[in-house]
Amino acid sequence: MSSRIKIFDTTLRDGEQSPGCSMNLQEKLEVAAQLEKLNVDIIEAGFAIASPGDFESVSEIAKVVKNATVASLCRAVEQDIDRAYEAVKHAVHPRIHIFLATSPIHMKYKLKMSEDEVLERTGQAVAYAKKYCNDIEFSAEDASRSDKAFLAKVFSRAIANGATVINVPDTVGYSSPEEMAAYISYVKNNTDGIEKAEISVHCHNDLGLAVSNTLASIKAGATQAECTINGIGERAGNTSLEEVVMNLRTRKDYYNVDCGIDSRQIYHSSKLIQTITGVPVAPSKAIVGDNAFAHEAGIHQHGVLAERTTYEIMSPQDIGIPQNKMVLGKHSGRHALVDRLTELGYSLNQQEIDDTFARFKILADKKKVVSDSDLDALVAMKLEPANQHYKLDNFVINSGSKITATATISLKVDNEIIEKVSGGDGPVDAAYKAIDSIIDKKIQLDDYSIRAVTEGEDALGEVIVKLSMDDKKTVGRGVSTDIIEASILAYLNGVNKL
Ligand code: KIV
Ligand code: ZN
Repeated sequence: MSSRIKIFDTTLRDGEQSPGCSMNLQEKLEVAAQLEKLNVDIIEAGFAIASPGDFESVSEIAKVVKNATVASLCRAVEQDIDRAYEAVKHAVHPRIHIFLATSPIHMKYKLKMSEDEVLERTGQAVAYAKKYCNDIEFSAEDASRSDKAFLAKVFSRAIANGATVINVPDTVGYSSPEEMAAYISYVKNNTDGIEKAEISVHCHNDLGLAVSNTLASIKAGATQAECTINGIGERAGNTSLEEVVMNLRTRKDYYNVDCGIDSRQIYHSSKLIQTITGVPVAPSKAIVGDNAFAHEAGIHQHGVLAERTTYEIMSPQDIGIPQNKMVLGKHSGRHALVDRLTELGYSLNQQEIDDTFARFKILADKKKVVSDSDLDALVAMKLEPANQHYKLDNFVINSGSKITATATISLKVDNEIIEKVSGGDGPVDAAYKAIDSIIDKKIQLDDYSIRAVTEGEDALGEVIVKLSMDDKKTVGRGVSTDIIEASILAYLNGVNKL
């Protein structure tokens, strides 16, 4: 009989810690709702004590998530544990996730604690958290560089004091698959009370082995895998959820393990994270990259046409890649649009349907056929703050190889139209300078990228900008068939968020 592995998603905590991946409250709620659709078992919503913003997002997520367990990370100190519980206490299934390092290097240089002190602190922290809730995860940070016998002692102490999950992190991505498997087997065979606890694994990708290390750990007996969508996370990232899940599914014959993930939500989840963070995945990325199901070589194409399984071990439908079954165009009505969006996995409220339909009509006037990818882009625009302070009213651009580019921009600001003209180094720079002079703030453009959402001359262009102002950073996104308009919309989207 196959066993069931739990999928612990830490996109909103470890994932959000990766450079350029920070999300605001509205975006985190959107991600949490998608993680529920994906059917993950545990959502690590944040590190409650890290900032008031982190606390608020853990707490708001805890209030709305229905099925998954909601966890907050905390250090092994009372004040952190209090804050973590305060944030998750409204969850249907709350979890407190305590971590404390166990490797000689971390204990000596970071914690300045002896083995005995770490053991003592583990017991105290878990017992303290247990007063609040039953579900307690204990992580031995840098476990994969810890002494195995000491690690098992620490885990025994954690379980004796009430830990229900013990986690073996490869914090610095140092391990090999065989070594990770050996750690899991050792812990399984040498930890007192282990039959009462889940064994979790949490890997980082510094040497490109996070997924392999996680799979080897599962094979060795881990019953919970910690992952992030698209593998985002500290430094080189965490274990990619979609890769682990599709390995387990595609190679069920080898792993003999099931998980509860609805794999048809994978593509959608990946796109959502790319849209929100502005961090695209590489075209060659396994499972969700643009080329993951593209067959270029003639011999492969021929094989796939004759029999799909000659060169395809998974089907695009398995991960929910849109199949473009129905063509939408300017004559399509609201019903057809809503039907298609539902098939694509969206559940929009009435206001969002009205907004998306209005944008769809404008786009359908410009394009003959509106594809599923276009629809993804249109729906993603709903992530813009509802009450935008600055709205684009009009723009005129003058540009050429022998003249200085100028932009005339008019924005609607609190029902007043304000117009400014500015020159610049190209049309986008001129437009951004004109916007800066209207809003009268110094915004720094840290990054700008543009891509076509679909193929063809009438493709939608998507612009992603990364902006900063003082110590705040944000991502802005704009979509249009006109790339200058997309650039302006992306900038305004970011400015409104800031
Ligand atoms: O990488 C790590 O060790 C962690 C722990 C806090 C679980 O993220
Ligand atoms: Zn981590």
